[in-house]
Formats: sequence, C-alpha cells, structure tokens
Amino acid sequence: MAEKISVMISEEEIENRVREIGAQISKDYQGKEIHMICVLKGGVYFMTALSKRIDQDIPVTLDFMSVSSYGDETKSSGVVKIVKDLDQPLDGKDVLIVEDIIDSGRTLYYLMDLLRGRKPASLRLCTLLDKPSRRERDVKVDYTGFEIEDKFVIGCGMDYQQRYRNLPYIGVVEQV
Ligand code: IMP
Ligand code: MG
Repeated sequence: MAEKISVMISEEEIENRVREIGAQISKDYQGKEIHMICVLKGGVYFMTALSKRIDQDIPVTLDFMSVSSYGDETKSSGVVKIVKDLDQPLDGKDVLIVEDIIDSGRTLYYLMDLLRGRKPASLRLCTLLDKPSRRERDVKVDYTGFEIEDKFVIGCGMDYQQRYRNLPYIGVVEQV
C-alpha cells in the first residue's frame, strides 16, 4: 500500500502560532528564567522554534529527556519508560516542558509527576498539538498550539515509523 500525505496545518500557520505562544510565554515569565525541557525526539522541532520566539531579555536554558510510550505502532502501549534522563537538576528552576503532541496523556501524566518530585520552582507544560478527545489521564496543559481531532499526524517532529519528522507542516498519512 502506498502512503499519501495531506496537509492539516500549514508551515505558515505553525510559524504564526509559535510566535503567538512565544509572546505569551515571554509575558508570563517576565523577570524569570525559563528552563525548557524537550521530550525527545518529537518535541525537538517545536522547542527550538519556540525558544527563538522568547524575548531575548529572558534567559533560556535547555535540557532533553527521552521517554517511550510508543513503539512503531500508532496506538499507545501504555508503557512509559525513561530512555534518557535529564542532564541537570530542576530544583528551584522555572521549568517548561515542551512536547509535540498530547494524546492519551499517559506520557505527560507520568513525566510531570516524576519531575514535580525534583522540586522545581514551577512546572508548566507547552504542547504544539493536543487531541483532547483521546485523553485517558488528566493532564493540565498551560500552552497549546492547536487542538486537533483524532487523527494520526506527522511532521514538525512527529513520526510515523520514525519517518516524516522533518516535514515543515503537519500532515496526515493515508494508505492509498
Ligand atoms: P500519549 O502518552 O498518548 O499522550 O502520547 C504522547 C506521545 O505519543 C507523543 O509525544 C507522540 O510522541 C506520540 N503520538 C501521539 N499521537 C501521535 C500522532 O498523531 N502522531 C505522532 N505521534 C503521536
Ligand atoms: Mg512526544
């Protein structure tokens, strides 16, 4: 079966929204420093784009973490495992987790609980996409790029069997 990709959210729409969220975050963190945590690999495109839209008078530091709840399937396995932990401690920091997409919420529910235990001064969550209709765990999202319907999406960091992360837009894969 061949794969056909259709565009759900264009590159321009994403760029505009990233600027808006960057402006909002800059307002909310005036006088503070932001310690951004990227959930690899999917969050990396959004985090780098977003970090460039934070006011330059706000110091930004970055760290990376890798957890897995998905194999090569398009459905949640329900198993969350730390594949790579953070390099730096979180105590006293204003931490902003940056994710590509929140689906069932299992990954972030687990992760936020874990990171809260490391005593950050504050802990917020920013996601490019949210599929609220799929939620199984109650996760509070502070900044959302776009709410989308229940479709499996790719691009801007998101993959289908490890491919398509580098698409500059958000697309939907169809088997034709
Ligand atoms: P959750 O634990 O079900 O919320 O899933 C979170 C993770 O699953 C995301 O960070 C993505 O890496 C992956 N994921 C969920 N939905 C999609 C999708 O539509 N496309 C690509 N990856 C997805
Ligand atoms: Mg992710």
